[in-house]
Amino acid sequence: MKLDSSLGAVVTGGASGLGLASAEALAEQGLKVAIFDLNEDAGEAAAMQIGGTFHKVDIMDEQSVEAGFAAARAAHGQERVLVHCAMAAKGGKTVGKDKETGGFKRFSTEDYAFSAQGILIASYRVASISALGMASADPVNDDGERGTIILTSSAAAQDGQIGQIAYGSLKAGVNGLVLPMARDLMDLGIRVNSIMPGIFATPPMLRFKDLNEKMWDNLNASVPFPKRLGHAEEFASLVLEIARNSYLNAHQFRIDGAIRMPPR
Ligand SMILES: NC(=O)c1ccc[n+]([C@@H]2O[C@H](COP(=O)([O-])OP(=O)(O)OC[C@H]3O[C@@H](n4cnc5c(N)ncnc54)[C@H](O)[C@@H]3O)[C@@H](O)[C@H]2O)c1
Repeated sequence: MKLDSSLGAVVTGGASGLGLASAEALAEQGLKVAIFDLNEDAGEAAAMQIGGTFHKVDIMDEQSVEAGFAAARAAHGQERVLVHCAMAAKGGKTVGKDKETGGFKRFSTEDYAFSAQGILIASYRVASISALGMASADPVNDDGERGTIILTSSAAAQDGQIGQIAYGSLKAGVNGLVLPMARDLMDLGIRVNSIMPGIFATPPMLRFKDLNEKMWDNLNASVPFPKRLGHAEEFASLVLEIARNSYLNAHQFRIDGAIRMPPR
C-alpha cells in the first residue's frame, strides 16, 4: 500500500512509546493520524506535534472505541492503517508465595480476566471495528487492498517469563488472532499481522534505568546484538514496512536483537 497523504491511520496507545513512534513515522509519510489513548495531556501534545488528531479512548470499553473510530473517520476519512499498541494487564505467578502470610497464593481469575480484556479482547475489538469500516471503503490499489491491521504482541508470547502467566499467554493469543483474521478478511483486501517486540526503551522499561542502574546495564547486556534495548523508531520502521508491503500478510514478526528470554 502506497503510504501518502490520501490515507488515514489510527494508532492506539499513540501518546507514548511504540505507539507514539509509529504515529510519528506514519505522519512523516504524510498519513493523517488519529491517536487513541487514555492519557489526554500526552495524547494532545503528540497529536499537535504530528499534525494529527487525539481521541480519548479506553480500549477496554466498546462504546469508547466505537466513538473514537467515528470521530477519527469524521476527521480523516476511513483509516487504512491500524496500529494497535495500547494494552492493560496485571502480573503475577500462577502460584507463588504470599509475602504477608508466608503461604501460597494464586494469580486470581479476576486478574487474569482483567488482563484478557486489556490484551486479547481489546485487540479483537479494535481490529474488528477497524476491519468493519475498511470493508466498505474503495480499494486503494490494483491488488484490491482496503487496509492493513498491525497488532502488538510481545516476545513474551513465545518466551513467557516467570510472573507473566497472563501477559505471555494473552500475547500468544494476539498472535493467534492473526491467521484466522487474515483469512476472514482476505476477500475484503485487508491484511493482518502482529509484531513481537523484545525489550524496547519506552517509559515502562525506562523506569528501571532510574530505579537500578546495574539492573539497567544488565538488561542492555542481555540482548545478543545490538547490546542495547530497542529504539521505538526501530519498531516504527517495521510498522511502516508492514503497512507498505502488500505481500506481508498473516505473519508474526519478532524484532528483538536476537534475545530469547530466560525463565527469569
Ligand atoms: N516496551 C517494550 O519493551 C515492549 C515489549 C514487548 C511488547 N510491548 C508492547 O508494546 C505495546 C506498547 O508498549 P509501550 O512500551 O510503548 O508502552 P507505553 O506505556 O509507552 O505506551 C502505552 C500507551 O497505552 C496507553 N494506554 C494504556 N491503557 C490504555 C487503555 N485502556 N486505553 C487506551 N490507551 C491506553 C497509555 O496511556 C500509553 O500512552 C504494548 O502492547 C506492550 O505490551 C512493549
